[in-house]
Amino acid sequence: MDADRVFARLEELYAIGSNRPGLSDVEQEAHRLAAMWLDEAGLEVGRDAAGNLYGRLLGSRPDLPEVWSGSHLDTVPAGGRFDGALGVVGAIEAVAELEPGERTVTVVAFRDEEGVRFGGGCFGSRALCGRLDPNELDKRDADGITVGEALAALELDSPPPGGWLDGRARCFVELHIEQGPRLLTMGAPLAVVTAIVGTSGTRVTFSGKAGHAGTTPMAGRSDALVAAAGFVLAVNRLALDGDLVATVGQLEVAPGAANVIPERVTLTLDARATAIDAALQAVDRLAAECSGETERIWLYEPAPMDERPRAALLDAVRALGVAPVEMDSRAGHDAAVLAQAGVPSAMLFVRSGAGGVSHRPDEWSDPDDVALAVHALSRALATLSG
Ligand code: GLV
Ligand code: MN
Ligand code: MN
Repeated sequence: MDADRVFARLEELYAIGSNRPGLSDVEQEAHRLAAMWLDEAGLEVGRDAAGNLYGRLLGSRPDLPEVWSGSHLDTVPAGGRFDGALGVVGAIEAVAELEPGERTVTVVAFRDEEGVRFGGGCFGSRALCGRLDPNELDKRDADGITVGEALAALELDSPPPGGWLDGRARCFVELHIEQGPRLLTMGAPLAVVTAIVGTSGTRVTFSGKAGHAGTTPMAGRSDALVAAAGFVLAVNRLALDGDLVATVGQLEVAPGAANVIPERVTLTLDARATAIDAALQAVDRLAAECSGETERIWLYEPAPMDERPRAALLDAVRALGVAPVEMDSRAGHDAAVLAQAGVPSAMLFVRSGAGGVSHRPDEWSDPDDVALAVHALSRALATLSG
């Protein structure tokens, strides 16, 4: 296993851009590069109707469902080197260690996992699994370009709404950087994921009355941003007290002038919890108390990982002399989409360095941990394809 090659490839992807939005030219360039590496590894390269990329180590029994491993190549703005990319580059390296057997083993790179450009996320895996919203192709990015137009620019026709999974995947294993400090704190290099928590996005709109910032008396104002601030603080308090993690990372103030009282504020709340439905009821209650109107813009129910690929990962980690750690994932992943579509799925986390930061350029994992993870993945894929 060539850890130097893994790091060189992560660096090559990063050199394309640390901002690689889904369905963009830069994501396309990352896919072009990965296709080259799949080809170099002797894998059969293919693409599907959503532009997801596949590299197949062909087995002698093409009728058997395949073992899949991979992740995504898009990033958040100013993202890091590892989120997504490690799962693709690591899978290429892990599959390169395998001898072809009866069952095909496939590396997959899904499109637009982050959902930064159009919202929602996991576009490629949801398209594959027939889980796009009916009006998904009409969603627009900040420049007014629709998903359908972005696909057409990549010479992709509209993906069939029912998906095309067709029992093709026997299981899916996603290698991913942990993106948090838990393994660092435990002093452990690897974790096998038990479940991906429920994740959601809620748009909350607050309405007030515009007015002159100097001449309107403070008493009796209706300031939409003051109401929104109350909500942000209330949700933060709620999250500090329980299982919920909650973030407001997007907020628009209209009309947006320093000397005009805010008339309208729209924010997006990212909320994640094991008991997501109960958490969202509490969030909606707080929004109502602050006179905010809510609209759910995405919701992924919790996705337990499957016993069999989990056991294969745990055994592989033990075989490398490492005590296996298990934890849930509070980041969303394509593995959740595949799991919910009935593909037995599991994830292997590799310890984050740099204090556990992620969605930042200084996101890091140490080469020794990455090498261990790729070895474990390779062993697990061998077991699962046997
Ligand atoms: C994906 O990176 C997420 O937001 O969890
Ligand atoms: Mn991410
Ligand atoms: Mn990711």
